[in-house]
Amino acid sequence: MFETIQTAPPDSILGLTEAFQKDANPAKINLSVGVYKDPSGQTPVLRCVKQAEETLLKTETTKGYLGIDGLPEYRQHLHGLVFGEQVPASRVAIVQTPGGTGALRVAADLIAGQLKPAQIWLSNPTWANHNAIFTAAGVGVQSYAYLNAEKTGLDFDAMLEDLKTKPRTGDVVLLHACCHNPTGVDPTAEQWAQIAEVVRERGLLPLVDFAYQGFGQGITEDAVGIRTLLQTCDEMLVASSFSKNFGLYSERVGGLSLVAKNPAEATAALSQLKRVVRTNYSNPPRHGGAIVATVLSSPELTTLWHEEVAEMRNRIAAMRSQFVAQMHQRQSKRDFSFLLSQSGMFSFSGLNPMQVDQLRNEYAIYIVGSGRINVAGMTDENLPRLCDAVAAVL
Ligand code: LMR
Repeated sequence: MFETIQTAPPDSILGLTEAFQKDANPAKINLSVGVYKDPSGQTPVLRCVKQAEETLLKTETTKGYLGIDGLPEYRQHLHGLVFGEQVPASRVAIVQTPGGTGALRVAADLIAGQLKPAQIWLSNPTWANHNAIFTAAGVGVQSYAYLNAEKTGLDFDAMLEDLKTKPRTGDVVLLHACCHNPTGVDPTAEQWAQIAEVVRERGLLPLVDFAYQGFGQGITEDAVGIRTLLQTCDEMLVASSFSKNFGLYSERVGGLSLVAKNPAEATAALSQLKRVVRTNYSNPPRHGGAIVATVLSSPELTTLWHEEVAEMRNRIAAMRSQFVAQMHQRQSKRDFSFLLSQSGMFSFSGLNPMQVDQLRNEYAIYIVGSGRINVAGMTDENLPRLCDAVAAVL
């Protein structure tokens, strides 16, 4: 039976971490997968998470199944973080999902099953897995322009022109709420307002990927795109993740929120979302959602969480500046100062696939083939070696 199965190519992001782990070079640097590292190069468990886990250890009374849509208090807090008070809970259907990827797959299955024949429009470039997730669910994938020719900033005119002219009414447009993955290039608040207008005029459904809330400008500030869209559009999907901002990567904590025009439509949509969940993974894992709910139910732990997110955000911004400065000291071929206006974990370095290969083969430095660098993986210790190597391959 199995002799017909062909070997699949390694995943373009997680496959690199597998290769990194096998690399025997003690000076190796992994700037591929989007995982935060502290100044000592570790991915820490947040202090608020540890404290919440201590509480859970004492108070948790069961490991029984959660409901198909997850923990009620978790969903309530998710609503607050994403929408504030802008939309009443009665118009929003939320399912807790295994990570942001789980949320995207649930969205994809809902789109494929209920909104046919909608296609989805992805920015070019976008997170490598977007294409795969929607294709796997049977949703047609198209792309809209995003970056300028130099790949250093947004080509907003081209993006808007594509959204105005290419999708059909009823198509879905995937937007990154903040910290665009892989480029770090985000629209401004004014640009969001124009995007929202086009989405409304053209009758498109926004699906907003919100995997980095708090890593751009701040926890509330990073919701600007969603809040602006909501002023104009009365329907939306949002895929949230707490992998990065709670450091809960392996606990797989996320959620899909569906904003409907009215409570009746939200109720019907929730019933379909639950069918999608039930036939995929039955119901979500408890622990990560319970941690988030415990933190956000406690004013003290919430304050600590805000501080820890700010610490991570500020460290990434500092690394970004240091990388730019150190590259400037080493060479004059390429000015990296465009990285300073980008936000979040990632930057599009402009390194070409040959340079990316050379960094890996000669220097044991791992970055994604597109030239995406995880700035959050830079530390004071690895930066000089990284900059020497980048200068050499340039
Ligand atoms: C990334 O883009 O590196 C992260 O979102 C992790 C992943 O699953 O790819």
